Amino acid sequence: MRLKTLSNMRISRGTRVLVRGDFDVAVKDGKIKDDFRLRAILPTIQYIDKCGGRIRFMGHLGRPRGKRVPHMSLKPVAAHLSRTLKRRIIFIDDPRAFDPEQDRSLDILFFENLRFFNGEEKNSLQFARRLARWSDIYLDDAFANAHRSHASVDRIARLLPSAAGLRFAQEVKVLSHLFRAPRYPAVAVLGGAKLETKLPLIERFLKTGYDVLVGGALVNPVIPFINKRGISKKSNSIRRIISNPRLHLPADLCVALSAGSRPRIVQIGDIRRDEVNYDIGPATVKNFCTLIHRAKTIVWNGPLGFAERKEFAKGTVAVARAITKSRAFSVVGGGDTVTLIAHYGVLKGFSHVSTGGGAMLEFLAGKKLPGVEALRQ
Ligand code: 3PG
Repeated sequence: MRLKTLSNMRISRGTRVLVRGDFDVAVKDGKIKDDFRLRAILPTIQYIDKCGGRIRFMGHLGRPRGKRVPHMSLKPVAAHLSRTLKRRIIFIDDPRAFDPEQDRSLDILFFENLRFFNGEEKNSLQFARRLARWSDIYLDDAFANAHRSHASVDRIARLLPSAAGLRFAQEVKVLSHLFRAPRYPAVAVLGGAKLETKLPLIERFLKTGYDVLVGGALVNPVIPFINKRGISKKSNSIRRIISNPRLHLPADLCVALSAGSRPRIVQIGDIRRDEVNYDIGPATVKNFCTLIHRAKTIVWNGPLGFAERKEFAKGTVAVARAITKSRAFSVVGGGDTVTLIAHYGVLKGFSHVSTGGGAMLEFLAGKKLPGVEALRQ
């Protein structure tokens, strides 16, 4: 897949460059809790600076659904970036109101959360035109939002000369490589929730010859098939994947009646109806780590248990450690997964940490992402 990249753009002194960033980060009491997505945009900023371009940032935070929600303001993100870059940033409260005075500014401009305005999620042409007035060029460096057909992702790319930012281009390159030319043995580790939405991805990995290791709440809909209880009607695709020898379900699980009660380790077929699956068990950790150890390509999305709680993070941490110790080309993504393994200090050592959550999953499942399609050559 060939994208329009920065090398296709002519940015010279004074060129106004509108950059769509991944500013959807965790903010608590006005402080950024994890600035991984903000750091990801720095190479693109440096590139524009070198060329003498003038930067205008836009992005979103949370899901305010067209209303001004104070705790979803992007002001703390702009302030954080200003401190990181040691640069003055002018915050524009309403980018629909074009101000020729500020437009001439050499400082970085930073627009308020675009999802405060109705036009963004509606992919409105009028809204995109108003944003476009601030710029000569559009760069998308927000891969995590590429699966959204929104004005700042899709519509605007058709109004201005546009290209992928450095990080966006790198995400597409790395994730495409996982299917185009993986080195075998290849392993995909999938956790988190919502098996139904991840089924197409699991099938794609299986078809491509990956061993697929499944954990977390993703396992729950499969349990009835193992202990032959309450099999749902939507069972055909589940039946198909679990009969594939490359699909590796947990042999054992760490379960409990609730997160506060005493956990026990059980074989997957022996979990009782009133028990909740909180983590993969030690035998599973061993099996998964053996496959990881042999692998030359590894991709991971989704925690393998309720890893926010330390007592249920053992599987997730052990697998992260095994991957970072392996010599495989390794990719990890998903907001929760990355935050959790960073929290437990086991993020260092992955070949690529994706900024994408839902976007990464959809891209890997082979879906066409509006943000990617808009930047195709
Ligand atoms: C993400 O965090 O995955 C992106 O910012 C997309 O957010 P959304 O699911 O609210 O569109």
